[in-house]
Amino acid sequence: MKKNENIIWQEGKVDYEERCRLLGQRGLVVWFTGLSGSGKSTIAVELEKMLVQEGQACYLLDGDNIRSGINSDLGFSEEDRNENIRRIAEIAALFRDAGIITLVSFISPFREMREFARKKAGVGSFIEVYVSTDFATCKERDPKGLYKKEIRDFTGKDSPYEKPLHPELVLDTVNHSPEECAGKVLQEIKKYLANVEVHHD
Ligand code: ADX
Repeated sequence: MKKNENIIWQEGKVDYEERCRLLGQRGLVVWFTGLSGSGKSTIAVELEKMLVQEGQACYLLDGDNIRSGINSDLGFSEEDRNENIRRIAEIAALFRDAGIITLVSFISPFREMREFARKKAGVGSFIEVYVSTDFATCKERDPKGLYKKEIRDFTGKDSPYEKPLHPELVLDTVNHSPEECAGKVLQEIKKYLANVEVHHD
């Protein structure tokens, strides 16, 4: 994207650490990736509920919902998918900077864009969760009835999905329930939060 030399960054008088002290927690991006129908959103919805029950401020950015609003101008070409993820990576980084535990549930099929999202969130503020449900299982479950529709440029069929090489977590939805999977992510989040305590003056 072109850089505009007439745009000058506005510094604030409140920084990330101060926002964390106010909320009593740290921000984090938990990025779910996987095929359509793999279970990303089901798990993220469970996790959001668990986090709120534990008193954590969190928010779920979900592919289908975001595509009904701010990204409703985008389709499913490689270019549009990249723009979809670029915007969400930026939005997730803002939520993280606000001190929120931000759950992101998008197919996000391309490694390069997931790495972009990781960089945007910042070192140690990004947990990549690969929901590894295979194509045949997703097709069989077909929760939204999309696989039987023979949609063009469908992920895993005629549009590629690049598996994560080093995700922080891999979830197996064939042998584990959505609640169990959400519990695993919650443990990973707790490990992260235990390592980076909120500093009180
Ligand atoms: S991404 O590839 O750009 O990350 P995103 O997660 O936002 O995709 O949206 C995926 C959702 O859009 C799917 O869960 C499905 O409901 C719907 N969808 C519609 N068309 C397609 C398609 N061609 N490929 C994959 N998902 C599609």
